[in-house]
Amino acid sequence: MKLSVAGWDDLRKFEMLWEEYLEENHKAGDIMLPTKANLKSFRQIASAYVESPELGFVLLAEEKKIPVGVLMWGALPSLGFETTLGKTANGWGTYVRPEWRGKGLSSELREQARVLLKAIGINTLMGSVLPGNLPAEGSVDSLGFERGAQVVIWRL
Ligand SMILES: CC(C)(COP(=O)(O)OP(=O)(O)OC[C@H]1O[C@@H](n2cnc3c(N)ncnc32)[C@H](O)[C@@H]1OP(=O)(O)O)[C@@H](O)C(=O)NCCC(=O)NCCS
Repeated sequence: MKLSVAGWDDLRKFEMLWEEYLEENHKAGDIMLPTKANLKSFRQIASAYVESPELGFVLLAEEKKIPVGVLMWGALPSLGFETTLGKTANGWGTYVRPEWRGKGLSSELREQARVLLKAIGINTLMGSVLPGNLPAEGSVDSLGFERGAQVVIWRL
């Protein structure tokens, strides 16, 4: 298994896996729609990280040149408010193709990504997990993620 930070030539692989990720998460109840427009926005964030690696990165896992896992972590492309958390990055997501699950790949990706984030001066990562997504909950718990503020949704 080869883990590497994505460059310009890898954006197509990113997009292919991210599309699968958005579709699966949406089916599981996530509010993010797996639309072309959303995919394009995520591709823009990935491109910003390729262009400015000090902001974040896409990490790809490939087996015999076939992409099997992806993670994207980095700064939010917005004004950075100051909080008690210090320099914080957003965990946009981690996805492992079904046939590669349960083999420690997401832990491997996240451990490598943790080292990369620290190297660009970020000391906290924030993300969200859909309640009831047991693999996602299990995988963040096993790494020692803490439960933070809960998202509340009011359908008006
Ligand atoms: C969540 C996901 C990334 C986990 O990837 P993975 O490579 O299978 O996870 P790993 O094999 O590295 O397992 C990591 C930990 O998660 C736990 N875990 C994995 N699958 C689990 C499951 N079905 N139920 C409960 N815990 C589970 C493992 O026990 C392991 O903990 P351990 O190291 O203490 O034994 C993968 O299931 C996935 O891509 N799901 C769809 C996308 C998604 O939900 N992403 C998460 C967004 S936060």
